[in-house]
Amino acid sequence: MGVLVDRRGDVQHVMVGDSHSIELPDWGRLRAGLGRLRGLRCLHTHLAGEGLTRDDKTDLLLLRLDAMVTIGVGHDGLPTLAHTASLGPAGEGVELLDPQPPAQIDLDFQTWVHELEAELARATGTRKVGDRERAILVSVTAGRSAGDLEMHVAELRELARSAGVVIVDVITQQRPRVDPKTVVGSGKLQDLMIRAFQSGVDLIIVDQDLTPTQARNLAERMDLRVIDRTQLILDIFAQHATSSDGKLQVELAQLKYLLPRLAQRADVSLSRLAGGIGGRGPGETKLEIDRRRTRDRITRLERELRTLGGQRKNRRQRRGRRDVPVLSIVGYTNAGKSTLLQALTRTEVHVADQLFATLDPVSRRLRFPREREVIITDTVGFIRDLPADLVTAFRSTLEELSDATLLLHVVDASAPDHDRRIAAVRDVLHDIGIKAPELLVFNQIDKLADGEGEALARRYNGVAVSALERTGLRGLLVQAERRLWTADDGRIEPHGRMTRIAEM
Ligand code: GTP
Repeated sequence: MGVLVDRRGDVQHVMVGDSHSIELPDWGRLRAGLGRLRGLRCLHTHLAGEGLTRDDKTDLLLLRLDAMVTIGVGHDGLPTLAHTASLGPAGEGVELLDPQPPAQIDLDFQTWVHELEAELARATGTRKVGDRERAILVSVTAGRSAGDLEMHVAELRELARSAGVVIVDVITQQRPRVDPKTVVGSGKLQDLMIRAFQSGVDLIIVDQDLTPTQARNLAERMDLRVIDRTQLILDIFAQHATSSDGKLQVELAQLKYLLPRLAQRADVSLSRLAGGIGGRGPGETKLEIDRRRTRDRITRLERELRTLGGQRKNRRQRRGRRDVPVLSIVGYTNAGKSTLLQALTRTEVHVADQLFATLDPVSRRLRFPREREVIITDTVGFIRDLPADLVTAFRSTLEELSDATLLLHVVDASAPDHDRRIAAVRDVLHDIGIKAPELLVFNQIDKLADGEGEALARRYNGVAVSALERTGLRGLLVQAERRLWTADDGRIEPHGRMTRIAEM
């Protein structure tokens, strides 16, 4: 059995369990303030003579108890030794006193606990309102090679940085499979909890897509917001969408992502934390309403998007009638698509060293050296494993690509895994049924040694440019013109200009 005692010494709660565990009440999302303790200490019996267990220390940490005390019980039913732990300065559960019979404990608890709180407040007190969110990134190998893991982590870092998050730590684990309940194994999870507590993070970002169960388990155990890569990408999309379609599409994707997670929440009747802590989740009725509202909103958004889609189609048809070829810039996120568009058209388009800076296709007229006009459009950046839902969500934005006469596929030549990125982009294009021919544009060659970019481009039959330094652009236009107006594979309709302009 166990009791929770407040700072006045009053017993607030009595718990009776079985020989293995007792259930602590669930304080749910009610967090003790940063740097503060709960104002309760937990004293409970241990029947098998074990001292403080790992679970005891985890509960101490998560519930921010003033102290966790276990009292051994002898065969005669009398107390043996008491073990006392509190939060250490580094934020982990540490033994406070040598084990001793409970009657001999001599500690001025009030003074001690106030000092400890002051120390914790100092450790976390440097945070200011408006500071950027702080996160720990988590990834498991789950069958990937070490190199692969590194690449995924690097990408997750980039994504987090794009979302404006401060990365406090990265925790990775080698394991053959993702743990079905908590992604990482239980030992790693405890490390993670301790690390999160120590560094006062706001958020955990998991590289693997979380099932609703994993998301719920992790959020409950950590008492923190836990999001996965898809949600992170959605967050970035939400921050960057500017057109009305873009915004609606992001909201729709977010709601669709949320819906199964809402549905799951209803069966959280007992949230079990380490050591068997239980409490009630949100009421069924409220969840029913939330789910219904969410579904209604999804239906409404889909309707609005259909209307906007129709308007877009009209716009495209009008453009099509003007008989102008369409060059569409595609490419992996951060390849330099917007910079290239800007360099080619000399207009100010939003360029930022953030992933997905572009979420809305921008159309511009591009004057070739010989007074030729094409329409050039920029699209949202693609990314490896772009979640299927997101491809669907942005299908209508990407529909613009179906009008493309030629795709300018921009590649960051300095990325070590550029061939994989090329494949990732081609996969998405294939998924949405785009068949237009492509010209590979190896960009950012200013970051490479002289001649390296050109060699790369030759190998892929593409062109090498630096959009930033505006070099190689003429070569790019020459190639583009050639492919636009002298295509001999019959796929490109040269808008009746083939003979006139073929000689470039
Ligand atoms: P998304 O919209 O996220 O898909 O990005 P994007 O492909 O449109 O890339 P963007 O043009 O925003 O460029 C990404 C970053 O790369 C920016 O910081 C650019 O300044 C930089 N960049 C683009 N082109 C070059 C280049 O030729 N050389 C160098 N050194 N940097 C470049």
